[in-house]
Amino acid sequence: MSDLVRYALDGSVAVLTVDNPPVNALGIGVRTGLKESIERAIADPEVDAIALICAGRTFFAGADIAEFGKPPASPTLREVHEMMESCSKPIVAGIHGTALGGGLETALACHYRIAAPGALLGLPEVKLGILPGAGGTQRLPRLVGVEKAIEMICTGEPIDARQALQMGVVDALAEGDLRDATIDYADYIAAEGLPLKRVRDRDRLIAEAARRPEIFSFARKHYAGARRNFLAPQHCISAIQAATEMDFEGGMRRERELFNELMASDQSTAQRHFFFAERQARKIPDVPRDTTRREIKAAAVIGAGTMGGGIAMTFANAGLPTVIVETSREALEHGMDVIRRNYERTAHKGRISERDVETRMALLTPSLDLADVAGADIVIEAVFENMELKKQVFARLDAVAKPGAILATNTSTLDIDQIAAATSRPEDVIGLHFFSPANVMRLLEVVRGEQTAKEVIATCMDLAKRISKVPVLAGVCHGFIGNRMLHAYFDQAYALLYEGCQPRDVDKAIHDFGFKMGPFAMADLAGLDVSWRVRKETGQSQPIADRLCEMGRFGQKTGAGFYRYAEGSRTPRPDREVTAIVEEEGLKRHEVRRAIGADEIVERCLLALVNEGARILEEGIALRASDIDVIYVHGYSFPVYRGGPMFWAGQIGLGRVLETIKGFHDAGHGDVWQPAPLLERLAAEGHSFQDHDQAGG
Ligand SMILES: NC(=O)c1ccc[n+]([C@@H]2O[C@H](COP(=O)([O-])OP(=O)(O)OC[C@H]3O[C@@H](n4cnc5c(N)ncnc54)[C@H](O)[C@@H]3O)[C@@H](O)[C@H]2O)c1
Repeated sequence: MSDLVRYALDGSVAVLTVDNPPVNALGIGVRTGLKESIERAIADPEVDAIALICAGRTFFAGADIAEFGKPPASPTLREVHEMMESCSKPIVAGIHGTALGGGLETALACHYRIAAPGALLGLPEVKLGILPGAGGTQRLPRLVGVEKAIEMICTGEPIDARQALQMGVVDALAEGDLRDATIDYADYIAAEGLPLKRVRDRDRLIAEAARRPEIFSFARKHYAGARRNFLAPQHCISAIQAATEMDFEGGMRRERELFNELMASDQSTAQRHFFFAERQARKIPDVPRDTTRREIKAAAVIGAGTMGGGIAMTFANAGLPTVIVETSREALEHGMDVIRRNYERTAHKGRISERDVETRMALLTPSLDLADVAGADIVIEAVFENMELKKQVFARLDAVAKPGAILATNTSTLDIDQIAAATSRPEDVIGLHFFSPANVMRLLEVVRGEQTAKEVIATCMDLAKRISKVPVLAGVCHGFIGNRMLHAYFDQAYALLYEGCQPRDVDKAIHDFGFKMGPFAMADLAGLDVSWRVRKETGQSQPIADRLCEMGRFGQKTGAGFYRYAEGSRTPRPDREVTAIVEEEGLKRHEVRRAIGADEIVERCLLALVNEGARILEEGIALRASDIDVIYVHGYSFPVYRGGPMFWAGQIGLGRVLETIKGFHDAGHGDVWQPAPLLERLAAEGHSFQDHDQAGG
């Protein structure tokens, strides 16, 4: 018998305890153990009922992801479920922790389910670009109805135990010890002779839905918008619809076909790549897991502007008391007002309670005295982007911050090492580059300076998780990883305007590719004035954008930028005035304007990202290509179903990518199209960036 499943008798109840740390994944060993234990329980005349529970911190948290893409080994999960559901003795699942994916599907194949109050239940497969492939799309709608099943399966979001009880996903909540409660429940079911409730036999809810097929067309439309271009939610809906059109066996076959289609799709390959990329990003080769961490119990933020306010909210949301320091009372009050209004808006939408607003506000202490950071374990500076100012602030911080405090800067472009040199403790200085709005965007670039201590890096990587951010390590260079690549992307977007495009042409091609918005809509949202000011300070020009700014067109905030915006609207409308400026400026650079197709727009903008990404990788600014993918998906809305720019390049094939890049170079689109040496090398070897990552860079 497999040692992953323990078998014990408690009176007339056979207790199967699965123990496959860390998350009781349903790998082949566990499946075999389950099969054998159930056979044993069936054969044992002493046994009247079976209790299925898991040891450790959770019920089955899902399939064994290591088996993904391999031919299924017998007994498959479906075979085990079949056996459980048709078992002649009642099986009760006792659920704690997270019952996810194959885990919840296993619970659904039991006759009864009882959950610990803190349990979470869900079918998150859609997030990997697939669907629940072990009966989830057939059993869940039978239990909770089609509409609720669609919502759970298409969003992949889990429900808590209380919701699960209300919806009928579980039959009872456990009071006290879950093991005892599950055994008592199993005992009771056997003693009372309660029926073996097989979910597959429940037809009432799906028969009702079969009479209302419009549910499905409505859902398709909804997810075509909410999850634009994603294949998996549409397949999930088809699988659930099959439950209403076929018998259980037919539905199961349809589910399998749709599952296989998704599994073989580029989208799911990309989403699975991304799943591992996010996890990989937390690992830093020379900062081992057992590196000492510093304790972070209190924070301070310097500057209560756009970024400082958002960063302070992020800390308060995680329950960390935070001091916010400003130079003037006016700026401080304004910053605090913005934070309060933000929280109130969130409460108004029902996402947090009125009490949460007050609890979080109470964690924030406004101050006009930098000495008030003395109690902070981490200080994040978010003052204006100016080296002299930052140096002054860090010199003062050095004098007032407690020994061992982490001194972080949120600079977007400045040299962290120069900032660190303004202190007597450069080992405590690090870049923590949040993205705007900082309380919403999940990406955090953790920028390692020349002298940053390993324990400072390890502490910040952990802290990121605590404040619900996705951290990626970057080295010091202008713009670090994300913004340095963005620069290359914007250069191309502008070049396309001069050559023949209008902003809407570029934005449409990029939006159709899958980004939330194209570069010019994004620039309007961020505000055109910031980069205009930088250009003026550094003696650079970008004639089209400069002219717009000279006209007071700063983007959404002034109602006009590359587009015009109706009062109170965020919808960009093309503007004749801009069209004329683009044409005029274009003709100053090129004799004629040419028609440029969507394919070229996408290649020019996105291969610029890839080429710059390859340089960043080669210089060691990024540890891995997959880290760059994480940055682009979380920080810049690169579509996750394409895996990130570096993975996408691999799907095209680096040989073809290189050829296209050389073509742009030969066509005179500039030196930026000099291929990155790493790209040339990998293309020549027939390798991808992923191969490069796997080989250890
Ligand atoms: N805005 C973005 O999208 C973004 C994104 C990432 C990083 N950043 C970086 O974050 C930093 C802040 O940018 P922002 O957009 O929040 O600017 P901002 O102008 O909105 O805010 C800066 C704030 O710092 C305050 N300040 C100035 N000197 C100070 C001092 N000595 N002590 C305390 N407060 C002081 C100002 O009063 C102002 O409120 C910059 O380094 C910027 O490059 C900005």
